[in-house]
Amino acid sequence: MNDNRGSFSSRLGFILAAAGSAVGLGNIWRFPYLAGQNGGAAFLFIYLLCIFLLCFPVMVGEIAIGRAAGSDAMGSYSKLGNKRWGYLGLFGILAGIFILSFYNVVAGWAFGYFLEISFGDLLNESDFGAFFGNYVNDISDNLFFSLGFMIITAVIVSRGIQKGVEAANKIMMPALYFILLALIIYSLTLPNAMAGVEFYLIPDLSEITAQTIFDGLKQAFFSLSLGMGALITYGSYVNKNQNIVSSAAIISVADTSVAFFAGLMVFPLVFSQNMSPTEGPALVFMVLPQIFHDMGPILGRVVGGGFFLLLCFAALTSTISLLEVPTTYLVDQKKIKRTTVVWSLALLIFIVGLPSMVSQGMVPALNKLSFYRDRDFLTFIADMCDITLTVGGCLMCIFIAYKWKIHNMDHELSIGNDGYMKSFLRKYLHFTISYVCPLLLGVLSILIILEKFIGLENIW
Ligand code: PHE
Repeated sequence: MNDNRGSFSSRLGFILAAAGSAVGLGNIWRFPYLAGQNGGAAFLFIYLLCIFLLCFPVMVGEIAIGRAAGSDAMGSYSKLGNKRWGYLGLFGILAGIFILSFYNVVAGWAFGYFLEISFGDLLNESDFGAFFGNYVNDISDNLFFSLGFMIITAVIVSRGIQKGVEAANKIMMPALYFILLALIIYSLTLPNAMAGVEFYLIPDLSEITAQTIFDGLKQAFFSLSLGMGALITYGSYVNKNQNIVSSAAIISVADTSVAFFAGLMVFPLVFSQNMSPTEGPALVFMVLPQIFHDMGPILGRVVGGGFFLLLCFAALTSTISLLEVPTTYLVDQKKIKRTTVVWSLALLIFIVGLPSMVSQGMVPALNKLSFYRDRDFLTFIADMCDITLTVGGCLMCIFIAYKWKIHNMDHELSIGNDGYMKSFLRKYLHFTISYVCPLLLGVLSILIILEKFIGLENIW
């Protein structure tokens, strides 16, 4: 490994950073609303299946590639494969730039809500649906909060792997768990909370449709930050004595548990106020503030502020990793100074995010894209990124099995893990990475593309 790139100081540092990348808006904003729309427990069931069968093997493979090559996403594929495979890494880096561009807009909303609930008078509103509609269309608020969020991300990433990425995650991840647990305990004590728990935990398998499977897969990939090289990048900073397989297991469990707990917090809240869990993306920004409002001025401020602070921490640990991916690429490949790279990228990505920012109604042409079944630009970019991740994951498995070769991955995984060569897990990883993942991910990716552009009802 190239010594002056830096590295994580310890196994815990890496695990917290990778779990931080995974835990994000995906877990706390998207997972509960997707679960709410897809039958609660039925969605949870499919989601867990995707994690176990498809995501865990991809995660192990991704970290192994990064550590074996010790380079950025593009450099790693080029080094272990050839220049043409390097373009797969570049494809991932570009996907990361686009994800960050819209992700930072949503993170800005969370940041604004946190500040205005904790220190302003947002909870005095009477109609939170209308408020959110106005909020996402207020250009000055959007610019201010989303730029603020990008600046905080850039300050952290510019400090490097140990002093920036690792240090920030070591503070924010435990804080995040703490806030989450406190909120769950509170929400479980509310009247009618158990109806929410039931909806969330008792599966009705007849609720499982093709849509549930697509949503589960996309969500699992997005949530674990797979398929675009984020974990190749973080993996490239991992020391050789660490056990990749068990680290990947811990990261997967950490991420899945936050999504699971987020549901366990949100559904009792929603049911306690007799609200509908099927509100979609609005669930967190329209339904929850109403609930915080009903708690009264002081409790509402504490619980509501706590919730949006949680959302900001989750988002920040992810935006850090999203900015780190292109940063590592430019530092490794073009040998440009980290601070120059970080601030230029932050500005560039902020600008790339502007169309997403104004697509919620401010610019009508971006609010209803005719080529995209009249959906808005932010949704379009987010959906394209979802597709990129599953396609990227599929190609990555093909790369490992048929180009880099599975015995090379075995060799990398056995470093720091003496029992690996004789383990059952090794056989499981061979089978899934060589056959199950490329096949299922390939077929599902094609179906997801058709679904997005043509509509599911027109496919079957
Ligand atoms: N995993 C993050 C989330 O759940 C999003 C993310 C995707 C971060 C890809 C990095 C890379 O919110």
